[in-house]
Amino acid sequence: MIPFPTRARIISVASGKGGAGKTNVSVNLAVAFAQAGDRTLLIDCDMGLANAAILLGMPSAWTIGDLLAGRCGLDDLLQTGPAGLRFLPGHSGTGTGSTLSAAERARLMEALQPHLADYDQVVIDTGGGLEASALALVASADTPLIVLTPEPTSFVDAYAVVKALNVAHGTSDFDIVCNMVRHDVAARQLFDRFRAIAGRFLDVELNYAGAIPTDNYVKEAVLRKRCVVEIFPGAPASRAFGALARRLALPAAAMPPERIFAEVSHGAH
Ligand SMILES: Nc1ncnc2c1ncn2[C@@H]1O[C@H](COP(=O)(O)OP(=O)(O)O)[C@@H](O)[C@H]1O
Ligand SMILES: [Mg+2]
Repeated sequence: MIPFPTRARIISVASGKGGAGKTNVSVNLAVAFAQAGDRTLLIDCDMGLANAAILLGMPSAWTIGDLLAGRCGLDDLLQTGPAGLRFLPGHSGTGTGSTLSAAERARLMEALQPHLADYDQVVIDTGGGLEASALALVASADTPLIVLTPEPTSFVDAYAVVKALNVAHGTSDFDIVCNMVRHDVAARQLFDRFRAIAGRFLDVELNYAGAIPTDNYVKEAVLRKRCVVEIFPGAPASRAFGALARRLALPAAAMPPERIFAEVSHGAH
């Protein structure tokens, strides 16, 4: 039996490269957790391009920027989204950088601390990047989830993030999700190649968390300002997000990768 944790597990979603799908993975994974019955909090910590509210179709009066500036409290900020998901909207274009400073991160964690026992899963869209403060945010989570795509730039950038986290914070365990892949076999090959290269130069443990296929329903959902798992639950990407949530909700060895392959390929075009 899985023991009940006393506080939420914190998953930070990162990638070196913008456009790899961090926001889509964060939002859809969080809603998939909520749909599965987990008490879930999604936090948009991308201070440059806070897009999660758009994907949820939830414009908000207050943002994390207001909370940090003392203009509102956590209760003013907390919104309820699809499947009962709780959501802290991010702040776009502060001009002060794309991520939280160390002091801002400390203030946010201080505000959240008393509430962490109320959740099973906390998902953070980190906004990515290699700045020290962005890395510190990723490193402070229980599970850094790195979004990797087949683009060569994504490969190099994801490697840079893993290396920087390992060197600067001693982070050695990473979950990798392959996004925008053609099918499950391509995803596994991409992961294997990434692990082979990382393993040659770094002392890190990389876990295959799953794959999200390239799926036009994701784009259609973005255009409709909704998340794909909510409005197209039968779409290949939605099934894959469901499988990703199930995989991440379990201890590492509890679900063999083959099972995820089956679920992704089952839903693929
Ligand atoms: N699995 C997918 N299938 C199709 N398009 C995708 C998928 N994941 C992401 N995208 C597209 O890529 C774009 C960038 O995704 P986004 O989540 O905003 O990336 P990031 O937050 O890393 O910058 C989105 O506009 C979305 O349409
Ligand atoms: Mg984003």
